[in-house]
Amino acid sequence: MRIPCHLAIIMDGNGRWAEKRRLPRILGHRRGVETVQEIVRECRALGVRYLTLYAFSSENWRRPEDEVSALMGLLGNYLRSELTSMLEQGIRLKVIGETTRLPGEVRQVLEETVARTAGNREMTLTLALSYGARNELVRTARRLAEAALAGRLAPEAIDDQTFTEALDTAELPDPDLLVRTSGEMRISNFLLWQLAYTELYFTDVLWPDFSRQELHQALLEFGRRQRRFGLTGAQVEESH
Ligand code: FPP
Repeated sequence: MRIPCHLAIIMDGNGRWAEKRRLPRILGHRRGVETVQEIVRECRALGVRYLTLYAFSSENWRRPEDEVSALMGLLGNYLRSELTSMLEQGIRLKVIGETTRLPGEVRQVLEETVARTAGNREMTLTLALSYGARNELVRTARRLAEAALAGRLAPEAIDDQTFTEALDTAELPDPDLLVRTSGEMRISNFLLWQLAYTELYFTDVLWPDFSRQELHQALLEFGRRQRRFGLTGAQVEESH
């Protein structure tokens, strides 16, 4: 199985999973957390170096207040319960997004977990929280403009690399594979810059039902794709 160096996932369908069973949506999210645990473990076991999960979008703040606070609660509990396992498995936690909007106690447990796992090297787990790609791009442009105004950066020195290194994802390679569950075929404002050459994989399976076997299906499909980065198929064959 060809293993992507960086796998990004849009975990969609928790709400529908619950609604199909006439359960409150939050139970779908709760099952979604169990899937997160299983998929993180499996990615680590398979040797994925970077795993990035879209856990809460900038737009998700507009959901009903009780759903937002339940999601924040699940996130805090998840972080508290996973620390030992992250340390055992050599997993480093990273966060991208406008984290200043998150509730104080969630920020605190995030900061602690990031700090405690900073020395881990086996896999980087990045949670996108209060994340929207346009928001990330705007914050980045603003930061570069400020540096230019302050005389620390010449505008003509801004290129692909400068920009890449100023994004929230600065230390991460671009994703090789993006998986989205639940049958929606959209990017939904996720990693717009970073996904330029990423292979996209969509499955109808809802996130709470996304199992190790489903992950293997996605990886098998990834293995069948030829990544050309703008070259011809023949050029790519030659370079191998
Ligand atoms: C999409 O389902 C999922 C989310 C908005 C949140 C994802 C969150 C989790 C899996 C749990 C918390 C995360 C971590 C990392 C502990 P949806 O509610 O949009 O589903 P729907 O489209 O069927 O309504």
